[in-house]
Amino acid sequence: MAVQTFEHTVTEGDTAAVLGSGDLAVLATPRLINWLERAAYAVAKASCPAGQTSVGTLVKVEHLKASPVGAVVTCTCSKPISDGRRLIFHVKAVDDAGEQVAVGEMHRRLVDPQRFMTRFVEAAEAAAAPATPAE
Ligand SMILES: CC(C)(COP(=O)(O)OP(=O)(O)OC[C@H]1O[C@@H](n2cnc3c(N)ncnc32)[C@H](O)[C@@H]1OP(=O)(O)O)[C@@H](O)C(=O)NCCC(=O)NCCS
Repeated sequence: MAVQTFEHTVTEGDTAAVLGSGDLAVLATPRLINWLERAAYAVAKASCPAGQTSVGTLVKVEHLKASPVGAVVTCTCSKPISDGRRLIFHVKAVDDAGEQVAVGEMHRRLVDPQRFMTRFVEAAEAAAAPATPAE
């Protein structure tokens, strides 16, 4: 899968003031990271082997420029560099003035969804099971 690009317009609900990551009405860093991670997930999904999925394991993002409400932010994710089961993506965001808003790196791991979730199901079942009476 080649590079993927996603365009977002900053709304009031995307701001640091609303999301609680700051006081000001500018694009919140966690929202920007979410947009970049969604782009990486989309690229990973498109090249994922059958029966596997990917989970995010590392996020490294430099937020370089503030974006006010109404700004259009374009998030781009490269195709991954693969290191066995680890996928490494380069991500960036630019605004409608063509200036860099963010650059970074995202890592994801290919996992078997059944195996990944089984331990939680087993733990929930063990917690729900009636206690064995002591002898
Ligand atoms: C991805 C991750 C499993 C890799 O860690 P790791 O150190 O290589 O994993 P471990 O070898 O210690 O395995 C721990 C457990 O993870 C699960 N796991 C590991 N590799 C797996 C794989 N390829 N497929 C499915 N589950 C896997 C298993 O449940 C394993 O326990 P088990 O060996 O008893 O079955 C771990 O870093 C992780 O879960 N990170 C959080 C990812 C996340 O939740 N992201 C947000 C959602 S996208």
